[in-house]
Amino acid sequence: MATTNWTADNIPSQQGKTILITGANSGLGLEASKVLSGKGAQVIMTVRNLQKGKEAVETIKKENPDAKLDLMLLDLSDFQSIRRFSEDFHSRYSQLHVLINNAGVMSPPNRELTKQGFEVQFGANHLGHFLLTGLLLDITRKTPNSRIAVQSSLAHKHKQYGGGYMVFEDLNFEKKTYNKDHAYGQSKLANLLFAYELERKLKAHHISTIVTAAHPGYTNTNLQKNFGFFIKVIMNKLVAQKVEMGTLPILRAATEEGLKGSEFFGPTKMNEIKGFPELVKSNDKSYDKEIAKRLWEVSEKLTGFTYKFD
Ligand SMILES: NC(=O)c1ccc[n+]([C@@H]2O[C@H](COP(=O)([O-])OP(=O)(O)OC[C@H]3O[C@@H](n4cnc5c(N)ncnc54)[C@H](OP(=O)(O)O)[C@@H]3O)[C@@H](O)[C@H]2O)c1
Repeated sequence: MATTNWTADNIPSQQGKTILITGANSGLGLEASKVLSGKGAQVIMTVRNLQKGKEAVETIKKENPDAKLDLMLLDLSDFQSIRRFSEDFHSRYSQLHVLINNAGVMSPPNRELTKQGFEVQFGANHLGHFLLTGLLLDITRKTPNSRIAVQSSLAHKHKQYGGGYMVFEDLNFEKKTYNKDHAYGQSKLANLLFAYELERKLKAHHISTIVTAAHPGYTNTNLQKNFGFFIKVIMNKLVAQKVEMGTLPILRAATEEGLKGSEFFGPTKMNEIKGFPELVKSNDKSYDKEIAKRLWEVSEKLTGFTYKFD
């Protein structure tokens, strides 16, 4: 599957496809919206702030006035917003070829909570997408050749971010001291555990929708806004890759034909920090079926949503 310098030029026409992207007003989500609408897809750009969303739509329309963009409100840190969004989506769309679970928040210095009281990184990055994906699955599974592409991070395995450890005894960092970086790493490991478990469940039920995953290495976006000047400005300029490059892994995961499911794409240069996207390996924990099962059960309990595959 190794390709020489896979770029957006490798993406086939997306005419006729309906693609939903979360966190579409900024960084990787905005770039993916631009590229995929440029390839002819109807792109549903979901945002939690409509003003920011309108500006993002204008940015794309300036370059491509014919882009088929639909802006919709979705706050992943509020289950009610996700349920409202799902109802709205069901009333407007009958197919969903690609769901790109991209939105994310990283390392807020103080422990922040979602509307329902979960630590915000576990709550929005993981639980929010878990609920969203489940609510949309009836449409996704009846759309031929459909897929779900999940944006994770190298942080799912790095020591600084908790070393790939789900803190099941304290998922919301309520009991022990809040560790912003571990909470982020945990949420990004959860993204992968969810992706692989969902893929296994879909296969087991003979549902043709596939699930793929990606990480963008280190990319200059607004994600690092909670960090100090050195990272936010200096490192982002000198080390991080540009957003056009950082978006390629998720674009590949979302569009490459012939994938079977569970593929994980990331950059391959400088310990996966930058470079063109190829298949990469996530850590052993992310493939652990027992951990995935436990996370699935707790996620159903916390979201109050039970997946139905029959
Ligand atoms: N950039 C990197 O180096 C890097 C590395 C590894 C993984 N990632 C992952 O890539 C994804 C995209 O991040 P990015 O780098 O493009 O950062 P970004 O520019 O900050 O974009 C993040 C997007 O997520 C949205 N978002 C955050 N919380 C949300 C919520 N509760 N509900 C709905 N939307 C929400 C943001 O909306 P607002 O603009 O309203 O805040 C924004 O649109 C994230 O999942 C991140 O973990 C990025």
